[in-house]
This record gives sequence, structure tokens and C-alpha cells, in this order.
Amino acid sequence: MGGTRYSGIIILVLLGFLGSIQAQLVLGFYSKNCPRAEKIIHNFVNMHIHNAPSLAAALLRMHFHDCFIRGCDASVLLNSTSNNQAEKDAFPNLSLRGFDFVDRVKSLVEAECPGIVSCADIIALVARDSIVATGGPFWRVPTGRRDGTISNSTEALNNIPPTFGNLTTLQKQFSKRGLDLNDLVLLSGAHTIGVSHCSSFSNRLYNFTGVGDQDPSLDSKYAANLKANKCRNPNDNTTKVEMTPGSRNTFDLGYYSLLLQRRALFESDAALTTNPTTKSFVTQLLQGPLQNFYDKFAKSMEKMGRINVKTGSIGEIRKQCAVVNS
Ligand code: HEM
Ligand SMILES: *[C@@H]1O[C@H](CO)[C@@H](O)[C@H](O)[C@H]1NC(C)=O
Ligand SMILES: *[C@@H]1O[C@H](CO)[C@@H](O)[C@H](O)[C@H]1NC(C)=O
Ligand SMILES: *[C@@H]1O[C@H](CO)[C@@H](O)[C@H](O)[C@H]1NC(C)=O
Ligand SMILES: *[C@@H]1O[C@H](CO)[C@@H](O)[C@H](O)[C@H]1NC(C)=O
Ligand SMILES: *[C@@H]1O[C@H](CO)[C@@H](O)[C@H](O)[C@H]1NC(C)=O
Ligand SMILES: *[C@@H]1O[C@H](CO)[C@@H](O)[C@H](O)[C@H]1NC(C)=O
Repeated sequence: MGGTRYSGIIILVLLGFLGSIQAQLVLGFYSKNCPRAEKIIHNFVNMHIHNAPSLAAALLRMHFHDCFIRGCDASVLLNSTSNNQAEKDAFPNLSLRGFDFVDRVKSLVEAECPGIVSCADIIALVARDSIVATGGPFWRVPTGRRDGTISNSTEALNNIPPTFGNLTTLQKQFSKRGLDLNDLVLLSGAHTIGVSHCSSFSNRLYNFTGVGDQDPSLDSKYAANLKANKCRNPNDNTTKVEMTPGSRNTFDLGYYSLLLQRRALFESDAALTTNPTTKSFVTQLLQGPLQNFYDKFAKSMEKMGRINVKTGSIGEIRKQCAVVNS
């Protein structure tokens, strides 16, 4: 009796131990099965990102969207099928970019070692490598993610934090994924690069509460400037506006400085200054040095890259990133 119970416990402990090993990402996961994989990805990014540096922002945003829906499992890359509308097609007017880039990396890596390197790891690696190649922060990317088989546009709409989110909503959405308020402030710092379509924030300029008004939390001079020069039409879904004017490709503290000037584009950005804790963290980051932001951003990125990852025998290694294996 006692012996059976004892060995039962040992088995449970062993299973738990194996489970926890399976669930870990590791640095250099492909070092045995595809030792050149990370180098191939790195070289491709370095060779091509300089021709299109704005892709770095797009790839970083893609990684964020991927991780926030069903974990970092490349569900963001799947195409819609005749009976399923995929995440990709959830935001017709603020579409992500960079899918071709990821596909090209995938074919290089497949040529080197077929069926070994996941699309989920490729997204995480190209996001990091392209930010580093354009002069931004480095963060560690442990690998071993596997690819999911489900991509659902409704889930995307429900799970990507909304631009109009207040601090409570954003905090909830982040904490569901193991990210705290500091991570929220740090990861939002990604808005120091890249662009937004007018239609993503034009409600703040033209019709904030439905009576043709402006968002009072947006600097009125800046709002007037945007309306006169950039977003002349509230439904403009083609014009892109730099999030940090004049330094859209520079990963600096410009975003945090705009936050305190009430000139960041989204309500979700402005929300970070509505709470004493997050606001004082912003002020602290602004005191520099830049490397301090980089070090903290790196830790938050590594955390984001671990959200609900599929490892071990869960999921699959897709042959093509846009379709599940048949
Ligand atoms: C906190 C909640 C967040 C909200 C509500 C949000 C919302 C948005 C929106 C609406 C855009 C512009 C899309 C367009 O109109 O084209 C955007 C762009 C961007 N976001 Fe966020 N975002 C959030 C967090 C993040 C995080 C955590 C990251 C990455 C770590 C990120 C990285 C980016 C980047 C790099 C861009 C520029 C993309 C480009 O230039 O193509 N965002 N975000
Ligand atoms: C952009 O806006 C126009 C006019 O409002 C609309 O017809 C078109 O479908 C929109 N495009 C996207 C990609 O949402
Ligand atoms: C997608 O997700 C929504 C909301 O969770 C669910 O109602 C719907 O059935 C899902 N669609 C498919 C095709 O699984
Ligand atoms: C934040 O937004 C949520 C959802 O829209 C709302 O229920 C809540 O009252 C808001 N909180 C604050 C403090 O405004
Ligand atoms: C502003 O929003 C309200 C409520 O959604 C709508 O009825 C009105 O037509 C909008 N006004 C403009 C100028 O878009
Ligand atoms: C953009 O998409 C959202 C959600 O699908 C929709 O409510 C909005 O009207 C669209 N805006 C434009 C300009 O097409
Ligand atoms: C996925 O969709 C894109 C855009 O519609 C298309 O160009 C691409 O060929 C598709 N990929 C696959 C593998 O079907």
C-alpha cells in the first residue's frame, strides 16, 4: 500500500519534472538539429532590412500580435480558408505587414533543414534581429516554440488590446498573459518606432464622444496640426502618420517624451499617464540613460516571447507559414 502510494508520488513528481522541461524554451534550441538556422535568419535580416527599415516596426508589431492571440505560435501568419476567417483578416484597415519577409526566411531555413524550425520562432527571431539591425535594443530569444493550427479572426478582435483601452483594461489584458504594469509601459515603448494609419486614432481628432469633439487628453495644438496636415479626413485609412515625428526608425526615448507632452497617438498611450505609478515610471525612464530603457525593454520582450508557447509535442512545425500541415 505505502509502497504503491510512494512510487505513485515519484511518478507524479517525475511527470511534473518532465512536463516542466518540455515547457521551457532554451537559447540555441536548434544548435543540434539545425545549427546554422539562427545565423541564416540573422544574415538574411541584416542583408535586407536596410532596404526597408520600416519593416522592423512591422515585424515587432507582428510578434506582439502573435503572442497576444493563442500565445506565440505563428497563428498570425495563417491564411483564411473557405470555412475559416483567420486573424490576418480581422483588421482589414490596419493590416500587419511583413508576411512576405517571413515567408522568404522560412524557405531559406526549410532549404537548410526541412521541417525543423517553427514559424513561431522565425517571427520572434526576425523581430529581434530587425530591431537590432536598425540600431535598437537587443533581447534574448530562447527558442523551441511550435506552431499552432488555429487562427480565428473573432479571437483576434477580442484579444488584441484596443486603442481606446483605459489603464484598467490594458492592465487586465497584460496580466492575463503574465505581464505587469511595468511591462505595459516598457512594451508600449515600441511605439517609439513606426507609423499609424489616421483611421486608428482619428476619433480623438474628430468625434471623441460622438458629438464632433476632440479628445481633451490630446494636446490641442498637436491635434490641430494633425487635422490640418495629416489626417484631413476622419475615415482616411491610407495616410500613415509617424508615431514619433522625425524619428520613426530610431528606437529612442522619444515616445515617452511625447507621452508627457500629451502627443502620443492612441488613447492606450495616453492611459499610461493617468496613473501615478505608470506616470512616474515614464518619468524615470526619461531620465535615462537610453541603455536603462533598452535593458528593461529586453526583459519585457523576453517575457512577451514566452506567452503560452507550445513546446515539446504540442502543435507542429509548419512546412509553409501560411497554412497548417495537411
Ligand atoms: C498596449 C496596447 C497596444 C495598442 C492599443 C496598440 C495599438 C497600435 C495601433 C493601433 C497601431 C497602428 C496600426 C496602424 O494603424 O497601422 C500600432 C502600431 C505599432 N505597434 Fe502597437 N499597440 C499596443 C502595444 C504594442 C506592443 C506591446 C508592441 C510591441 C512590443 C507594439 C508595437 C507596435 C509597432 C512597432 C507599431 C508600428 C507598426 C508599423 O510601423 O507598421 N504595440 N499599435
Ligand atoms: C478604406 O476606406 C474606404 C472608404 O471609407 C473603404 O471603401 C475601404 O474598404 C477601406 N479600406 C480598408 C482596407 O479598410
Ligand atoms: C472563433 O472564435 C469565436 C469566439 O471565441 C467562436 O465563437 C467561433 O466559433 C470561432 N470560429 C471558428 C471557426 O472556430
Ligand atoms: C475602463 O474601461 C472599462 C471598459 O470599457 C470600463 O468598464 C471601466 O469603467 C473603465 N475604467 C475607468 C477607470 O474609466
Ligand atoms: C460622430 O459620432 C456619432 C455617434 O457615433 C455619429 O452619429 C455622428 O454622425 C458622428 N459625426 C461625424 C462628423 O462623424
Ligand atoms: C476599421 O475597422 C473597424 C473595425 O473593423 C471599423 O469599425 C471601422 O469603421 C473601420 N474604419 C475604416 C475607416 O474603414
Ligand atoms: C496566403 O495568402 C496570401 C495573400 O492572399 C497569398 O499571396 C499566399 O500565396 C497565400 N499562401 C499560401 C501558402 O496559400
